[in-house]
Amino acid sequence: MTEPKKKSAKVVSWGRYLPEKILTNADLEKLVDTTDEWITTRTGIKERRIAAKDEFSSNMGAKAAQKALDKAGVSADEVDLIVVATLTPDYLFPSTACLIQKELGAKKAAAFDFQSACSGYVYGLSLAKAYVESGMYKNVLLVASEKLSAITDYEDRSTCVLFGDGACACLIQPAEKGLEILGIEMGSDGSQAEILMQPGGGSRQPPTHASIDARAHYVKMDGAEVFKHAVRRMIHACETVLKKNKLSESDIDWLIPHQANERIIDAIAKRFHIEDKKVYKTVAKYGNTSASSVGIALEECLSEHPLREGGHILLTAFGAGLTWGAAILKNV
Ligand code: ACO
Repeated sequence: MTEPKKKSAKVVSWGRYLPEKILTNADLEKLVDTTDEWITTRTGIKERRIAAKDEFSSNMGAKAAQKALDKAGVSADEVDLIVVATLTPDYLFPSTACLIQKELGAKKAAAFDFQSACSGYVYGLSLAKAYVESGMYKNVLLVASEKLSAITDYEDRSTCVLFGDGACACLIQPAEKGLEILGIEMGSDGSQAEILMQPGGGSRQPPTHASIDARAHYVKMDGAEVFKHAVRRMIHACETVLKKNKLSESDIDWLIPHQANERIIDAIAKRFHIEDKKVYKTVAKYGNTSASSVGIALEECLSEHPLREGGHILLTAFGAGLTWGAAILKNV
């Protein structure tokens, strides 16, 4: 007897959640020595969302996840697995995934967090694809949720202008139709770990009065170094994933890169000769929301521009670790 052909993993629905509070460049001018002109020309960011005191990675993520479930008509108790990408978990433990499971009432789901910084959404698609295509799970919820305002130093002008809060989620199934996760390319380079990190709060530097006085619990970044690696690594990941899937840039309907800096996005688009109108950007209004940035942009892009049948989306991301990746989604 021949085995029935396993169906490939498809993203079948999406959701996102952005906090209401807006922090504009004009607001930041009152906090640190910066200007709207500097922030706009160096990053393309005009404003970002900031979570309220009672909003966390868990409840923002749960809101995005509930939207994805509602769109697919899948109830919480049908979810098999919840994987959560975040570098701003509610707690070091238990996982934010378990808190989201509770909030959704997804009683039979297994749940865990993973951490690949801003590459979280792309890395997460690879997990979902593997679980679904191995036949282990049928309903996998990928959530990416960040409350970066909790680890942003609003006395450091070189980082505080960049980050914002927000969440996204998608449901992945072995469905007939949806966005097929055609191919994924990932990489990492731990030798560059120190150019982008939160040094305090973990087991190497647990919280002490001295570490808090040294502001070790905030994001530290060598912006210029990160910039260089981000452009190079995302371009390479895109080239590789296109080649492995026998596609060229002319097959791509939308390029959706990590929304960290408009100049990085433009450099990637330029390399692939992808016109600006095919590059989806949310960086001006949300800034860098780390793991959730690609998923938030994907959700907005698809709700504004339904993808033609057979159309392709190229996602790419880069973050601390260093980590990077690219994925191709095909509408089947
Ligand atoms: N306002 C005004 N001046 C500023 C500000 C600010 N907000 N921030 C820095 N400056 C100053 C610097 O002090 C420096 O002044 P100096 O020359 O007198 O020393 C000058 O502006 C130039 O600084 P640069 O760092 O050279 O500016 P650059 O053009 O590189 O832009 C930026 C900085 C926006 C941070 C850029 O390097 C960048 O986007 N890096 C990549 C960030 C990124 O991609 N992160 C992704 C991963 S994030 C994650 O994983 C959590």
